Amino acid sequence: MPHPSYTATAVACPNIAFIKYWGNRDDPLRLPSNPSLSMNLAGLETVTTVEFSERLAEDQVSIGGQAQTGAARARVTAHLDLIRARAGLALKACVESRNNFPAGAGIASSASAFAALSVAGAAAAGLTLFEAELSALARRGSGSAARSVPGGFTEWRVGAGDADSFAVSIAPPEHWALADVIAVISKGHKATGSTEGHALASTSPLQAARVASAPERLAQCKAALLARHFATFAEVVEADSTIMHAVMMTSQPPLFYWEPATLALMKAIREWRAGGLPVCFTIDAGANVHCLCPAEAAPEVERRVRALGVTEIIAATPGGPARLIDPANV
Ligand code: PMV
Repeated sequence: MPHPSYTATAVACPNIAFIKYWGNRDDPLRLPSNPSLSMNLAGLETVTTVEFSERLAEDQVSIGGQAQTGAARARVTAHLDLIRARAGLALKACVESRNNFPAGAGIASSASAFAALSVAGAAAAGLTLFEAELSALARRGSGSAARSVPGGFTEWRVGAGDADSFAVSIAPPEHWALADVIAVISKGHKATGSTEGHALASTSPLQAARVASAPERLAQCKAALLARHFATFAEVVEADSTIMHAVMMTSQPPLFYWEPATLALMKAIREWRAGGLPVCFTIDAGANVHCLCPAEAAPEVERRVRALGVTEIIAATPGGPARLIDPANV
């Protein structure tokens, strides 16, 4: 019989970055070139169970009921190796993970996936880690996963090295009732995933300027967030998203994530804001437009986005931290 502590289940939300992470100063360790700031997305969840067991000859990984092989499984195994090394454990693991948001809806799941895997895996291995240690561990699987470990609005500081590059909560979810109205423009898999994208960032002549100016945008964004000042927040969030895409579009090879519908919505959102509707856009490594607004404006934003022909919308509010849960309640 395996020891009971060899199994644990955790839940984590994905997050949307207001100040983006793009490019590493150390790719294997995923030490970022610049600090970033994000909001966890409540309502969207990854639930992951990890069981270390003597009966397993190799790691088994299932996502949404589908057994994984190849690169997807290797990425999880590499993460389990970090946990095993830390715990002095040689056992193989069975990992079962599910997202409650539609697979292939173009919503990045690596942040919630590696946050949940880190929290469940560490507990299953018998490790008792501080939140900062769990965040640094999650970072090794996917940089943005560091920000899904603490709750609410979180800031990932670059840190000097592996141990101190982690995210902290700067405000709880209740601090500001913002909504992320996600306009699903493309459901397809990304042409270039973020891991490969980060490695290209330094080939853009604009990346140095983006990295140099990121701390100032982060300070402005954080101040606007803490003061709940939407107008200032909106301008800096859009500027930060666009400068990241300028880097993507000017790297070698260039990465063009926007579709014509992405740009149409970006322009419409700026017009709506000029007309008095508090809303701004931010876009990750894909074509979908995250429309950020105060929660009370969300129904009107959703109505206008639909009127432009977008049929699939997913809405989220500020979410809590990654945490262990009782699998009986899943
Ligand atoms: O954590 P990754 O490697 O999936 O990178 C995330 C990159 C962006 O989503 C584009 C920006 C961010 O800060 O989340």
